[in-house]
Amino acid sequence: MTKFTLIGAALLALGNSAVNALNSCGESQYDPAQYVCWSDQFLCPITAGEPLSFCNGACYSKFMYKCENNVLSLLPAHTGTPFTLTVSNPTLPIDGKPVTASGLHLSLAGNTSTYCPVEVVGAACPPGNITAFFAGNGGLSMDTMVPGGQQAYLGPDWNMHYTQAHSAYIPAGSLTQGFGAYEGGGFVNLNGNGWGWVACPPQASGGGGSAWNLVGRNETNAASLTACTPVNLKINPLPSGTVGAWQYA
Ligand SMILES: *[C@@H]1O[C@H](CO)[C@@H](O)[C@H](O)[C@H]1NC(C)=O
Ligand SMILES: *[C@@H]1O[C@H](CO)[C@@H](O)[C@H](O)[C@H]1NC(C)=O
Ligand SMILES: *[C@@H]1O[C@H](CO)[C@@H](O)[C@H](O)[C@H]1NC(C)=O
Repeated sequence: MTKFTLIGAALLALGNSAVNALNSCGESQYDPAQYVCWSDQFLCPITAGEPLSFCNGACYSKFMYKCENNVLSLLPAHTGTPFTLTVSNPTLPIDGKPVTASGLHLSLAGNTSTYCPVEVVGAACPPGNITAFFAGNGGLSMDTMVPGGQQAYLGPDWNMHYTQAHSAYIPAGSLTQGFGAYEGGGFVNLNGNGWGWVACPPQASGGGGSAWNLVGRNETNAASLTACTPVNLKINPLPSGTVGAWQYA
């Protein structure tokens, strides 16, 4: 997800693309499954299914950056209002499906599990049928009513988890910060030098049960995540005041 200046690398990789028909980009040939050509001149890689955009010499992701008057800059932070997250990678069957909370763990295209003490809260119980979040200060929290809230974090397994209601317990080795939430963009894992998120199909190593699993990729675990596919997580703003659940279960 970091800013790419991979033009050189893109050209080097062209030798391996015997399978697909090549297109021309100026004087270069490229595999359209792996690169996009801008202005018949500049090649940018397709990462996580996103043909990277081009800005004055650099390839960039619209989930994190914008280009105005040929100047690349970070999108502003999305703070203050709740949002849902959806998977973005058009090559996957779960493209556009939500990030879902269940069993104190975040999955992709799973079911949302919530709880509300109806005998106490009554009609004020929210429907609890969406998984909604708040971002701020580099962290992520669940959009809940329960006193104390529920914080989301990257566990030692680099899966996304969230705290049990009424508990602040987070296992040692977890990361509660280092996430970027960008207005009009995505929710980005900036931990571990920007290897980004991957979606792991049900039953692949990395857990997740019958849903797809969301895993933060890094230098160490990348080799073991070959069954998984890079994805972006798109931020979908909700109206101010929208409550996701009393608590996520
Ligand atoms: C959640 O439930 C509310 C109230 O029943 C309903 O209006 C809304 O459409 C539901 N949303 C989803 C995403 O199912
Ligand atoms: C990468 O993730 C694995 C878990 O999949 C974790 O054990 C390891 O410490 C992480 N590596 C880095 C460099 O953070
Ligand atoms: C979600 O719930 C439905 C209905 O209970 C079930 O059929 C489906 O398998 C569940 N999906 C996942 C990913 O667990």
